Amino acid sequence: MKIKVGVIFGGPTVEHEVSIISAVQAMEHLNKEKYDIYPIYISKDRTWYTGKMLADIDIYRDFDTLKRFAKKVVLYNHNGLFRLQALNIFRTVVADLDIILPVVHGNNMEDGTIQGYLELVGVPYVGSNVLGSSLGQDKVVMKQVFESLNLPVVEYTWFFDKEYFLDKEEIIKKVKKVGFPVIVKPATLGSSVGITYVKDISGLENAIEDAISYDNKIVVEKAVENLVEVNCSVLGTYESQQASTLEEVMSTQEFLTYQDKYLSGGKGKFGSKGSKGMASASRIIPARLDDKTTNLVQDLAKEAFKALNLSGVCRIDFLINSKTNKVYINEPNTIPGSLSFYLWEETNKPYEQLLDEMITLAIKQYKVKHQKTISFDTNILSNFNGSKGIKGKIRK
Ligand SMILES: Nc1ncnc2c1ncn2[C@@H]1O[C@H](COP(=O)(O)OP(=O)(O)O)[C@@H](O)[C@H]1O
Ligand SMILES: [Mg+2]
Repeated sequence: MKIKVGVIFGGPTVEHEVSIISAVQAMEHLNKEKYDIYPIYISKDRTWYTGKMLADIDIYRDFDTLKRFAKKVVLYNHNGLFRLQALNIFRTVVADLDIILPVVHGNNMEDGTIQGYLELVGVPYVGSNVLGSSLGQDKVVMKQVFESLNLPVVEYTWFFDKEYFLDKEEIIKKVKKVGFPVIVKPATLGSSVGITYVKDISGLENAIEDAISYDNKIVVEKAVENLVEVNCSVLGTYESQQASTLEEVMSTQEFLTYQDKYLSGGKGKFGSKGSKGMASASRIIPARLDDKTTNLVQDLAKEAFKALNLSGVCRIDFLINSKTNKVYINEPNTIPGSLSFYLWEETNKPYEQLLDEMITLAIKQYKVKHQKTISFDTNILSNFNGSKGIKGKIRK
């Protein structure tokens, strides 16, 4: 019997389109002998659709066609089955799924949101759990966790929008302490949205206000000079991890923009069958680092993966000052663009095999988790002192 895999993608996130590209690539590479694939596309307005045609990138050029031919569906727990059911008048059962492969990027989806939904349904899913996914999205909290384990991060300060508007001077003082040049970022977005490189104080307020238009939490980091950016993909769980070959990513400006990441190469990238998403940014594989630094980056990548209790395949990004050779962890991507398949291909793991391993790990973790006790066999209500009624005190 084939394993029924629901591939969830899209959703109300700024990285909606990138997720479509990553998901279509993954669906092309899932072994059709082993898996029955159910594409589950979530539109920007949060409607869930399924249909075989959703595995074809061209359908997304015209949302009206998609809406007309795809089935609106819901995924829920039906007496222990993970049921994908049509919202038509017949309530047709599309499938009872075995596992979900989330290929979503960005906040509102990758940040634990979709994982929380899947936990509630009870369905096994590939990749990091709720907490790991949330930590991976918040550029402040992840740094605090890394710092607590003495993992290297850049100097930074952070604040909420309200604090900035109440006392700009105080915030500017904090930024000056970090020292220019700085990078101003919304704390929980991705794909370089709302990020500005600020050379000196003159550009600071505009940059902060731009970031505030995307997020209520802002992080300002010291810009790493003589910058070399390298990424390492990690596959595993908290128990054991493998690190991939490193890539060195090239940017055309002070930092990698959305343009560099997804649109470089110009026309045809998004629409073409061979579209590579994140895999199209200009890159050098393997990164031009000596063995010692390569090993250091791979070890740090595995440490960072473990620190946040991540699972499946993640990509940990690094910033290196090439003059001082100082290496900093920039951020994890808990569901990396293109699932970073191109790094594993360079590590002698074809994409099909990578997907197989991710699914196997997820099934194993699900079994382990469900062996743990998840409920106590008591009913506190039966012992509840009725005479005190609803006013009785509950200590939780
Ligand atoms: N502290 C920094 N110093 C120098 N460049 C940085 C720094 N932080 C980010 N950048 C540049 O900005 C890009 C986007 O920042 P990143 O934190 O990775 O955000 P995103 O989540 O949007 O990918 C990085 O790929 C890098 O080019
Ligand atoms: Mg990044």
